[in-house]
Amino acid sequence: MYRAPTGTHDILPAEQPAWAHVRKTFARLCRRYGYQEITTPILEDTGVFLRTVGTGTDIVDKEMYTFLDKGGDSLTLRPEGTAPVVRAYLEHGMHNLPQPVRLHYFGPIFRYDRPQAGRYRQHFQLGCELLGDADAAADAEVIHLLWTFYAELGLRNLSLQLNSIGDPACRPRYVEALQAYYRARVDQVCPTCRERMERNPLRLLDCKEERCQPVIAEAPRSIEYLCAPCREHFEALQAYLRVLDVPWQLNPRLVRGLDYYTRTVFEVWPPVVGGQSTLGAGGRYDGLAEALGGRPTPGVGFATGVERVLLNLRQQGVPLPEQPPLDVFIAYLGQAAKERALQLAVELRRLGLSVSYSPSPRSLKAQMRLADAWRARVALILGDNELAQGAVTLRDMARSEQSTVPLAELPAVLAGR
Ligand code: HAM
Repeated sequence: MYRAPTGTHDILPAEQPAWAHVRKTFARLCRRYGYQEITTPILEDTGVFLRTVGTGTDIVDKEMYTFLDKGGDSLTLRPEGTAPVVRAYLEHGMHNLPQPVRLHYFGPIFRYDRPQAGRYRQHFQLGCELLGDADAAADAEVIHLLWTFYAELGLRNLSLQLNSIGDPACRPRYVEALQAYYRARVDQVCPTCRERMERNPLRLLDCKEERCQPVIAEAPRSIEYLCAPCREHFEALQAYLRVLDVPWQLNPRLVRGLDYYTRTVFEVWPPVVGGQSTLGAGGRYDGLAEALGGRPTPGVGFATGVERVLLNLRQQGVPLPEQPPLDVFIAYLGQAAKERALQLAVELRRLGLSVSYSPSPRSLKAQMRLADAWRARVALILGDNELAQGAVTLRDMARSEQSTVPLAELPAVLAGR
């Protein structure tokens, strides 16, 4: 027997209403903030991610699903949503539109990672990107949108972690200081950190190894190395967050696993923090468009994993919508009644009701069991008697009451319920 590939999962019918609820809540909110939906392909030229997420990151080095297609082109199942959105912005000349351009998206993301609770090889992200505006008010807006999304879903006790990692003007000086600090402590850190020191020094601060924690605790902080424009931007952002009443925690250790970030980085953590628990995350990426060969275009955005949102809603005991019951089940006895039942189903569906029946003939008892299993509100029974009378027997499934209803009156009777 085949199973879904490791780290992927089916979203079964019983879970669909909760998924739809999360997606709809997000779409409604995005509309209120003036964001328009975009859908990009699930695969891109591999270069889209190499040039932006960056070689040296776990995503590019270890986690991408990359393959040559039959024409010999290297394609990659998207491991994140931001670079594809910026690629689309450039490709469609959206810089010619009034700026900023505000976009939101939903779709599957692929990362060849070690699966565990809340971590998948295929997961789904909801995200927003605001392109073409460098002001800190833009950063505050996307953070406020994400924060409001969680609040409207009913999530409580979240914490917003905030940091600034500077820009190409000031970050090199910080990275040098960080490297110098680590070189003096090579023997105190894990082998991965020894390797990261040269390949991806910012990620040193992200290490989860016990022995590296004291080193991380004393490490130089990016905010102390910010150049004047970056410092002003970060201060302005915090002032706007205060104005918008979003509480945050300054986290000088917060770095992100993608290279394209400049200045603002943020994550939202649930109350119980574990290794893989980040609910949503994002930041500013003013160099991304140029890395893709486009004109310089500032941008800021976030993404949140739908599986993790649902996990946290369930952990916090927030009630989620369930599958709606069936409005009408039609039971029939005999071929003539079956044909009338098929027509009746079509007529009632035209009125907007959900209607189902057994395609194969079954005993009345077996049909009533189906009506129960599908949680029908009402069962209509059609037999020779009913056909002769031009009527149906209507059974209220909850009350177990039956009555005879002339077919002509059926729509009105059903609407009355
Ligand atoms: P990210 O932090 O890599 O950022 O992913 C965003 C969110 O996706 C995470 O906070 C988490 O909820 C979810 N997520 C990530 N990996 C997994 C996984 N393996 N299984 C389940 N959920 C996962 C980005 O991807 C950036 N593109 C966000 C962004 C948008 N930055 C600016 N704009």
